[in-house]
Formats: sequence, C-alpha cells, structure tokens
Amino acid sequence: MDFLVKRDDLHASRLEEREAPALESGQALLRIDSFGLTTNNITYAVFGEAMSYWRFFPAEEGWGRVPVWGFADVGDPGGTELAEGARIFGYFPPSSHLVVRPERVDERGFVDATPHRAELPGAYNSYLLVEGSPLYEQRFEDQQMLLWPLFFTSFLLDDFLAGQSLFGAGTAVLSSASSKTALAAAFLLAQREGIEVVGLTSSGREEFVEGLDVYDRVVAYPEVGSLPKTPAVYVDIAGDADVRAAVHNHYDDELRHSAVVGATHWDQLAGDDSEPLPGPRPEFFFAPDHVRRRSAEWGQEGLDSRVADAWRPFVEWSTGWLDVVRGTGGEAVQAAYLELLDGRASPNVGHVLSPGLSS
Ligand SMILES: NC(=O)c1ccc[n+]([C@@H]2O[C@H](COP(=O)([O-])OP(=O)(O)OC[C@H]3O[C@@H](n4cnc5c(N)ncnc54)[C@H](OP(=O)(O)O)[C@@H]3O)[C@@H](O)[C@H]2O)c1
Repeated sequence: MDFLVKRDDLHASRLEEREAPALESGQALLRIDSFGLTTNNITYAVFGEAMSYWRFFPAEEGWGRVPVWGFADVGDPGGTELAEGARIFGYFPPSSHLVVRPERVDERGFVDATPHRAELPGAYNSYLLVEGSPLYEQRFEDQQMLLWPLFFTSFLLDDFLAGQSLFGAGTAVLSSASSKTALAAAFLLAQREGIEVVGLTSSGREEFVEGLDVYDRVVAYPEVGSLPKTPAVYVDIAGDADVRAAVHNHYDDELRHSAVVGATHWDQLAGDDSEPLPGPRPEFFFAPDHVRRRSAEWGQEGLDSRVADAWRPFVEWSTGWLDVVRGTGGEAVQAAYLELLDGRASPNVGHVLSPGLSS
C-alpha cells in the first residue's frame, strides 16, 4: 500500500499497491505496522516544498508521500545489523514498507543513511528500537504514534519560553487550544509557577477545552478582545492569519513574543505577507533547531531522559480524553487524511492507521 498526494493540489490523492522492494547491499526492509495521523501531518504537506518534507520519501514528479510517525517491524534485515522482527518507532511514509540503510546501529536504534536523506534534519532520520527506548511502553503505542512528536515539540517550546522567562510576560496565549500540540504545551506550561495559560479555540469547542482543565482561561476566537491587556506571549499553533491579527491588534505593545508553531491554515498562507502587524514580528518555531541546541547542552541521553520524565504524566493524562480511532487499508488512510485536511476532525479523536498489507 502506498498513499500519494499531489503536491500542488493537496485534495488530490491516490492509492497504489506495489510489491515490497528488493534490497541492495546494506539495506533492510521495514514493514510498517501502524501510524498516527493528526493535523500536524497536514502541515508536513503544506510545507512539503518549503521545508523539504517531500524529500524524505520521494515519489514521482509532482507527487509526494506525507510523512507520518509510527511503528514498523524489521521484515528483512538484509545483511545489516538489525534483528529480524525488531520493533521500531520513527518517521515513515504512509505506506506498507520502507527500505532503510541502517548506520550507527546500537541498542537504542539507528540512523537511516540513505543518501537522499543526508541533508535533511537528523531528528527525522533516527529510528528507535523500542527495546532500548526509555519512552516506550507497549500499552501506550497508540499514544506514542499520535502524541509523541507533538509532545516533543511542546516540550521544546515550553523549555524555550521558560528559558526566556516568557519574555518578561505573565501570560501565554495559545491558539488552536483544542489541538494535541497546544494541549501538551498547556499541560507543561501549567506546571510552571506564575504563568497564566490562555487557550483560544473555535466557537463551540470551549466546553471540551475547559473540561480538560489545563488552561487557566479558555476563550473563543471572536472574544479575543475580552482578554485583559497585560504582557503576553502568543503561541500560534495552526497559523490562522485572522486569529494572529486579532491577537496582535489586541495586545499591541503588550505582546512580548509571537511564535508560529504550525501553519495548517494552508489556504491562508498568502495573507501572511500583508500589512505588518502591531507588536513583535512572528517567528517560526522550528523544533529541530532546538533539539540540536539542547542535545549539545544536555547530551542526547540527558535530553531523552528529561523528555521521557515529562512524557509519562502527560500520556497518563491523555488516556482520559484521547479517543483512538483505528482504520485499516489505503481507503481508511485517505479518508482520515481528507478529514484532517478539511479541518473536520474532532479534537479528541486520534486516527491510528494500519497499511493493511504486510507481505
Ligand atoms: N513546528 C513544529 O515542529 C510542529 C510540531 C507539532 C505540531 N505543529 C503544529 O501544531 C498544529 C496542531 O497539530 P496537531 O496535530 O496537534 O492537531 P490536532 O490535534 O489534529 O488539532 C485539531 C485542532 O486543530 C485546529 N485545526 C484542525 N484542523 C485545522 C485546519 N484545517 N485548519 C486550522 N485549524 C485546524 C482545531 O483547533 P481549534 O478549534 O481549537 O482552533 C482542531 O480542533 C499544526 O498546525 C501543526 O503543524 C508544529
């Protein structure tokens, strides 16, 4: 199974069935067992060109494979050091197979040294062997696929904002408050002393978001003007230009920093170059840059253990609201992708998909 998206028309997609590829020397075949799909994957497609996401799992001219996070098993180790059947967590195409060229293999995992990936951010080229992972618990596989990459971004974001003493502000305002990324950021920020965490969400979603009890205050987008005008930082989770403008216009000089985390509002990107907004210039928060910085400061193991410690309470908490919805086969993948592309997905739902073919 192989799911492909037309790069210049994200609503056009197609499914293909093909044989598992033959291996060359130094390659291993991974059988992709299942993967999560959330709005974050839509951002990978939106930024496919600009941020090179299409280059991880290249397809024929004009088409792309939207990267996903999931689990795979080593189907054929070839002559590599991987063990047949070993379970792996990492970054995959939405397909049933991936051929990798494992290098730097140790008990924790390996790096895919396939030449076209060499220049892409290293965080996406590393694969974890679940047996050596401080993070892994079998009972939380679904949560790991759905939430881990988002949580990791939010961990880095929380660390970044706290490291900057919230730019002298006392309030963090998060858009797309119902998204898994925002919920993870709010969960972490709420544990810090003296930070008021405000969630902005769509009208009609306030009750769901309030019920999760991680925001001090939840406000629907049209009510931004009702927030007290005190020093704040804005964390723009999904890139809605209208919401960003409303927040900047409301806080004006009281806005101390404006971070752009995602840009799922793909149809509004063109509006970003319009008139400059009051307050600080929005800055894109690119997680891999922060990974590099903290890995250098804390060492890889130091970073891994800090994130794993923060992850455990979050994942326990998520089981209280995250509704895992499973699908098998290409059509289920296509349906979940379109639901997310069109913003029709319920925020408490997490799609876990299995390619369905494992031969
Ligand atoms: N930069 C990074 O490294 C990084 C990493 C992780 C995530 N992110 C970004 O974080 C955002 C949320 O991702 P997620 O996977 O956490 O989302 P999710 O859980 O699937 O989020 C669902 C929520 O996002 C908002 N939303 C959903 N579809 C949308 C659409 N088409 N257009 C606009 N808003 C939509 C809605 O929230 P409201 O009704 O509350 O607005 C919705 O309830 C994405 O934009 C993603 O790119 C960025």
